[in-house]
Amino acid sequence: MRAQIIGLGYGLPERRLTNQDLEKMVDTSDKWIVERSGIRERRIADQPIKCSDLAYQAAEMAVQRAGISAQQLDLIIVATSTPDMFFPSTACIVQDLLGATNAAAFDLSAGCTGFVYGLDVAHKYLLADDCHYVLVIGAEIISRILDYEDRNTCVLFGDGAGAAVLGKGSDAYGILSSVLGADGSGAAHLSMPAGGTAMPASLETVQNRLHFLRMNGNEIFRFASRITSEISSQVLQKAGYTYSDVDIFVPHQANIRIIRTAMKRMNIPAEKTLINLDKYGNTSAACIPVALFEAEQEGRIKAGDLVLLVAFGAGLTYGGVLLRWGRD
Ligand code: ACO
Repeated sequence: MRAQIIGLGYGLPERRLTNQDLEKMVDTSDKWIVERSGIRERRIADQPIKCSDLAYQAAEMAVQRAGISAQQLDLIIVATSTPDMFFPSTACIVQDLLGATNAAAFDLSAGCTGFVYGLDVAHKYLLADDCHYVLVIGAEIISRILDYEDRNTCVLFGDGAGAAVLGKGSDAYGILSSVLGADGSGAAHLSMPAGGTAMPASLETVQNRLHFLRMNGNEIFRFASRITSEISSQVLQKAGYTYSDVDIFVPHQANIRIIRTAMKRMNIPAEKTLINLDKYGNTSAACIPVALFEAEQEGRIKAGDLVLLVAFGAGLTYGGVLLRWGRD
């Protein structure tokens, strides 16, 4: 028996923020952003859209495409760094919107690795417990914690959500292996310093712009360039495969140079690699499910394909999932 992805959905805000728009806001250029990151535009959710709204949009589509009713869900996991509020969890808000009255619900904080962490949890939950359907959502409105006076960060991120319903099925399809990890010694490299118990909100924290995302880009770049191929190798080995067996590689969409480094190390060609950061930027936990949704729509992923998902993010966290695409 395996945990299979049986339905995907996505939710992207309509407003596009292009590099040319950003040129008018901070000291940057389209040329710099494209050369250093590969990003051309990103989507921005304007107020009053909340994280739960994008999550719900993606979730509703995923449930519908799975061919189940929301009442059949046993568990809802929302992976996010930008929840509606501290508590209650965004997952509980989505549970109510969906009418998923039989589901437990919680948020998962693993930065950009959140969706991959969520898949791993869903996979283990499905196989270990009396559980039939799990909804995993990656949803972010990162734009609301971006400092649009900081050119080092504001050009890189975008908003969006992606969702997957997982169910149980035969060995023919589904999750083959997964590996998760974390290196908390790198926590300071990517954070939103204020607003929590360490630094509660005050006039000073607002004036010092401490409620915005802070990133040491070079450190993350070095970490990501190393970890992407390392984790890929581990997750493949665990299931008895090698790089050359991979049909579709779905890396976290942070920077085209990180992705190219990984592709080169693993000898995975462009036609096997999903890239959408040019259109959406880094949507954190939403990157991978949105890429999967689009690839399935476009017929780029077919039943039977060996699909490798790899992500890294705040924490620092990292993780990989290998699956045989398709459902019974
Ligand atoms: N426009 C123009 N110039 C810029 C911009 C910008 N938007 N941003 C930085 N610069 C300048 C810098 O000030 C610096 O100028 P200086 O040399 O005069 O000091 C110069 O460009 C080079 O800066 P670097 O930081 O060395 O640029 P680099 O090539 O390393 O690229 C980047 C920076 C894109 C941030 C890269 O380091 C990166 O992608 N890192 C990974 C980030 C990442 O993956 N984050 C997501 C993590 S996942 C999660 O959980 C959210």
